[in-house]
Amino acid sequence: PSLDALVGFATRHPRLFVLTGAGCSTASGIPDYRDRNGDWKRPPPVTFQAFMGDEATRRRYWARSLIGWRVMGQARPGPAHRALARLEAAGRVELLLTQNVDGLHGAAGSRQVVDLHGRVDTVRCMDCGARQPRAQLQQELLHRNPAWAALQARAAPDGDADLDGLDFSAFEVPACPDCGTGLLKPDVVFFGENVPRERVAAALAALAQADALLVAGSSLMVYSGLRFVQAAAAAGKPAAVVNLGRTRADDLFALKVGHDVGQTLEALAGRLQA
Ligand code: OAD
Ligand code: ZN
Repeated sequence: PSLDALVGFATRHPRLFVLTGAGCSTASGIPDYRDRNGDWKRPPPVTFQAFMGDEATRRRYWARSLIGWRVMGQARPGPAHRALARLEAAGRVELLLTQNVDGLHGAAGSRQVVDLHGRVDTVRCMDCGARQPRAQLQQELLHRNPAWAALQARAAPDGDADLDGLDFSAFEVPACPDCGTGLLKPDVVFFGENVPRERVAAALAALAQADALLVAGSSLMVYSGLRFVQAAAAAGKPAAVVNLGRTRADDLFALKVGHDVGQTLEALAGRLQA
């Protein structure tokens, strides 16, 4: 019954603005951040201020990242990513705005994608702005920290590693290879950091062109995502959500489907002959 309602929603609103979150990537082995009540599942991530201001924080961050990268770097698109790529190919998607940093929508074939929070496969210098592939930095991290390279085996399938009790103070983090001194940071938006203004503007422009908003696999606990649901409501555009568990915008949705997002979007694409 809720699938029928979703098919009806997509039929009445042919051009969708789609906003996705971590729930689309759990099937690919990348864990989400919050549970079905919207509470943190793990300690909150490092803040921008801590990363920029504290060398020990950066050493710990990159040591964990070195070990978790194997999982993140090898993840493949899942059913939700594939279904959204099919819907776009069928002309039903105005823009896919994702809060995910894993790049899996692009890997599945979606082309009109805005990565609201950036991408973890790219590293940026905070001084000169030069970008390099994360895979390149991985080689450098492994090269400089052979003892840590051996610890990769400790990483759980979800990329989490038990690193308690290890000495991070010897972990070596390289500086920017371009300018020689700049501080390297993953090209993702950290907590406490602003989303680049042009990304928000591009997304709002697409929302203005769309007939309706579809949220897929997000708790909407973070304002940078929530604001698009609020903007749709303010513009009088109907919104639907496919998510297991509550969201911060439940009162703003005309339709809520509380099922698995991969199965639901696959079924939707099938029913729409996308
Ligand atoms: P969350 O982890 O907050 O929300 C994911 C939602 O997906 C939860 O409500 C889950 O219950 C639901 N979910 C998980 N698996 C699902 C499945 N198979 N089918 C349907 N629903 C499922 O993730 P986001 O809302 O994306 O920020 O988080 C937003 C931002 O918070 C992230 O982009 C990240 C984080 O801090 C940055 O990296 C800047
Ligand atoms: Zn630099």
